[in-house]
Amino acid sequence: MPFQNRSSRTRQSTVLLVGIMVLILTIVAVLAAVLLANGTKETSMQLLHWKDRGTTKNLQEVILGRCYNYITTVNPELRDKDCQKIWETIQKAFIYKNPCNITTEDYQPLLDLANHTVPCNKSLFWSKTNDLVHRYTKTNHNFLTLEDTLLGYMADGVSWCGKPSSPGINYESCPKWSECESNPLSVYWKMASKMFAEGACGVVQVMLNGSIDAGAFRNNSIFGSVEIFNLDPEKVSTVQIWLMQNIGGPPSESCTGRSITRLKSILEERNFSVSCEDNYRPVHLLQCASDPDHADCTLCPNSVQ
Ligand SMILES: *[C@@H]1O[C@H](CO)[C@@H](O)[C@H](O)[C@H]1NC(C)=O
Ligand SMILES: *[C@@H]1O[C@H](CO)[C@@H](O)[C@H](O)[C@H]1NC(C)=O
Ligand SMILES: *[C@@H]1O[C@H](CO)[C@@H](O)[C@H](O)[C@H]1NC(C)=O
Ligand SMILES: *[C@@H]1O[C@H](CO)[C@@H](O)[C@H](O)[C@H]1NC(C)=O
Ligand SMILES: *[C@@H]1O[C@H](CO)[C@@H](O)[C@H](O)[C@H]1NC(C)=O
Ligand SMILES: *[C@@H]1O[C@H](CO)[C@@H](O)[C@H](O)[C@H]1NC(C)=O
Ligand SMILES: *[C@@H]1O[C@H](CO)[C@@H](O)[C@H](O)[C@H]1NC(C)=O
Repeated sequence: MPFQNRSSRTRQSTVLLVGIMVLILTIVAVLAAVLLANGTKETSMQLLHWKDRGTTKNLQEVILGRCYNYITTVNPELRDKDCQKIWETIQKAFIYKNPCNITTEDYQPLLDLANHTVPCNKSLFWSKTNDLVHRYTKTNHNFLTLEDTLLGYMADGVSWCGKPSSPGINYESCPKWSECESNPLSVYWKMASKMFAEGACGVVQVMLNGSIDAGAFRNNSIFGSVEIFNLDPEKVSTVQIWLMQNIGGPPSESCTGRSITRLKSILEERNFSVSCEDNYRPVHLLQCASDPDHADCTLCPNSVQ
């Protein structure tokens, strides 16, 4: 009896020992796997670490919601556009792709689905006046900016880019224009701007910022590099420049300034008539609505030089 007892106890402790060893080995293996996985994840993360913010959360819902809102309430003339299809083509253009290697061909199917034009005399281009120009178009429905077209409306303030590995969308970061030009957003905005400019007709306007040190007109802006070269001289007669300065801002460029003179000569060479107005009054009054007590506003000066 005692002998049997001891042998069973030995067997018990052997089983226990083996059990503990298996447990330890498992822990070590799991730990190694975790560390290894963490390592590879880290290096692949580093490869995809860009300087701009990553893809907007719930991108699909945002794009789809904006698309349906646009074709339902903003511009019901476009009610026949297929928002589901539009989202699918946007997605196809960038997911699982290198975010520095996007081409206009990637977006061509989207352009074919979402392309539309703006009525004559209504196109309003802008550069460096994002806030003011959209405050203006919200109150004056005679003018439409790129952000009032379907493509601009869907993408305004949203970002997206892909990555080759699953899930094919990079929510952490996206490349800035300075990191690589052929990123999904830059290519999208260039394409949308080109469409907007090509469709313009009659008299078009551009609102520029006269309080920019580098000059109100910059030839590397979207307006200076894409839009002016896609205006069609057969369709567009006149380009009206509205040069807006900050209320109470430091003295800066006027309609006779150097960069505006350069812009005028580029446009005239392309056979457009050009006019320029300093502090275009309807917009200036809007600026004054936010700053009514400022000295620049009390007499409502309409400074034409
Ligand atoms: C995994 O890597 C991150 C840094 O990328 C580090 O903060 C974390 O401690 C690591 N985890 C383990 C278990 O090593
Ligand atoms: C970019 O795409 C082209 C063709 O789509 C391919 O030949 C090229 O190798 C790609 N470049 C990078 C850096 O992925
Ligand atoms: C956009 O549509 C117009 C007609 O609606 C057409 O003339 C133009 O070529 C189209 N542009 C593109 C880039 O598809
Ligand atoms: C556009 O403006 C020009 C000049 O003001 C005018 O002659 C023309 O009739 C306008 N076109 C439309 C469609 O309103
Ligand atoms: C001009 O640009 C500056 C800097 O981007 C901005 O703060 C200012 O509001 C702009 N002025 C106008 C009139 O849009
Ligand atoms: C842009 O303007 C600068 C002068 O301000 C000029 O040197 C440069 O060549 C221009 N670039 C283009 C693409 O026209
Ligand atoms: C501008 O108009 C003139 C004469 O009407 C024409 O010879 C020239 O080719 C036009 N230029 C452009 C860029 O359309």
